[in-house]
Amino acid sequence: MTTTIKRLTPEYASAYRALMLEAYALHPDAFTSDVAEREALPISWWEQRLSAGPDATEVVFGAVEGESVLGVAGLSVERRKKARHKSTLFGMYVPHACRGKGIGQDLVRRVLSHARTQPQLMLVQLTVTEGNGAAQGLYEGMGFEVFGVEPYAVAVGDRYVSKVHMWCDLMCLAGEA
Ligand SMILES: CC(C)(COP(=O)(O)OP(=O)(O)OC[C@H]1O[C@@H](n2cnc3c(N)ncnc32)[C@H](O)[C@@H]1OP(=O)(O)O)[C@@H](O)C(=O)NCCC(=O)NCCS
Repeated sequence: MTTTIKRLTPEYASAYRALMLEAYALHPDAFTSDVAEREALPISWWEQRLSAGPDATEVVFGAVEGESVLGVAGLSVERRKKARHKSTLFGMYVPHACRGKGIGQDLVRRVLSHARTQPQLMLVQLTVTEGNGAAQGLYEGMGFEVFGVEPYAVAVGDRYVSKVHMWCDLMCLAGEA
């Protein structure tokens, strides 16, 4: 069966929710969202995130194979006038069994190609937990550069983790496939 990268619609809300709750539970260091907080949200919250209305500020792409979603990554855009040139890659997750096959790369590529279709956007930002070599290596390979490190960015139990801030200049990527 072939894997396709496509924009997730509200019909995928249950699968998307299950995947993200797994991500938050298995990788508390990697995500700012807390599994219990997100588990308590109604399914309508997940449907809303996937809805494609004219006011949508978020788009989520999934690696889809049949009924299964094998990985996800989202892009959120700014609506405020003075920040409309910026966007953020969020919620990047590929479950263990599907890793190392290029799905992460395909998802980031799709997020960047979508960002390039938005004429107001100049850049994509993201944060990655310091020490998450797999994710940082993936982002660097796709053209993201580090521009700073935020100490004590996220509280994980009684510890704090730092966040590496990265950005990708869409103008530099112009012309690439
Ligand atoms: C990070 C993650 C999305 C990578 O997904 P993936 O589908 O395995 O990634 P790919 O197969 O596309 O790998 C792409 C590149 O990522 C890097 N990479 C992936 N896994 C790696 C690892 N374990 N160690 C070092 N680099 C790694 C490599 O540069 C790789 O390119 P290469 O295969 O040409 O060397 C996945 O490991 C994951 O979901 N991790 C847990 C959640 C997480 O950390 N999310 C990111 C939050 S910012």
